[in-house]
Amino acid sequence: MAPVFSQRVATWQATHGRSQLPWQNTRDPYRVWLSEVMLQQTQVSTVLGYFDRFLTRFPDVAALAKANEDEVFALWSGLGYYSRARNMHRCAQEVMSRFDGAFPRTAVELESLPGIGRSTASAVSAFCFGERVAILDGNVKRVLTRVLGFADDLSTSATERRLWDLATALLPPADEPEVIARYTQGQMDLGATVCTPRKPDCLICPVDDLCVARREGEPERYPVKTRKLKRTSESLWMLQAIDASGRVWLEKRPERGIWAGLYCLPVFDSRAALVAALPPGSEGLHDAAPFLHVLTHKDLHLHPVIVQSDGAFALSDQGRWAGVLDWPSLGLPAPVRKLLLSLEAGQAASSSR
Ligand code: ADE
Repeated sequence: MAPVFSQRVATWQATHGRSQLPWQNTRDPYRVWLSEVMLQQTQVSTVLGYFDRFLTRFPDVAALAKANEDEVFALWSGLGYYSRARNMHRCAQEVMSRFDGAFPRTAVELESLPGIGRSTASAVSAFCFGERVAILDGNVKRVLTRVLGFADDLSTSATERRLWDLATALLPPADEPEVIARYTQGQMDLGATVCTPRKPDCLICPVDDLCVARREGEPERYPVKTRKLKRTSESLWMLQAIDASGRVWLEKRPERGIWAGLYCLPVFDSRAALVAALPPGSEGLHDAAPFLHVLTHKDLHLHPVIVQSDGAFALSDQGRWAGVLDWPSLGLPAPVRKLLLSLEAGQAASSSR
């Protein structure tokens, strides 16, 4: 099975896989690493714009290492999973300090850097340096469990380790960089475009005759994962304190938890807690329309509460007053950015009346 599978996937990639994504046709590890981290939890269509903007501002690892963390967050704003942005910044700094500005060329060394897990490390070393190492992201797990009929529960780490071993056994036999890169991209492309979670398109699959799941007739049964993360929901009240010149009070979020490290409106568990925290000089309190913000595993019910403030207070030492011109340079969570922009639009409309 092994040589046939890898050869078919690599050949299929050359004719049917994706070839024009902006992080392809390069062996620059900075670009490949940047794309792989962005793609870890985000779809290709969303990543495209962010990738270009990020590269324009930080064209190489030295530029990113020197950046101000808030600016890195600002360019990441809206992509979610903000620990990725912090780890990328730290990773760039370690590439400068530990590796003299050149990304290491093996998956083992790459994995020693912040934010680079085993699959990302292998993708970078396979694409850029032709290293013969296996990847195992969500798409590839689906492809391999189906082809192999691997029915064990991937919630356990022992099972996951066994699948890593099988992925390694399926690698192309020859140590040819071009084949390794094509095979690596081919598995990703197959998972994203043919071997999809629902209604896989087995009729056009290059390995359908090898596939145990297809033979069994129920490919959607794979991969098997019993322990699913439960969705939760939470209500949060957000204080939108506005001063006479239209600035709002923003606070840097703690390093852990939701929107870690980003600038945000002050957040409270209840309306009462928000009201209790209002400083003197706050007037005209009113509740704006609540709205839903959906995260991967959580529904956030957000309740903005607006007050006019004399701007003479600091709610905490982690915050600052910020006007509309400051917002683009601060990392803001997507719903906060939306809220502030609608507020700004409202102010512009009322001042032109
Ligand atoms: N997802 C993760 N890595 C990818 C890549 N190199 N191309 C397309 N999608 C991906």
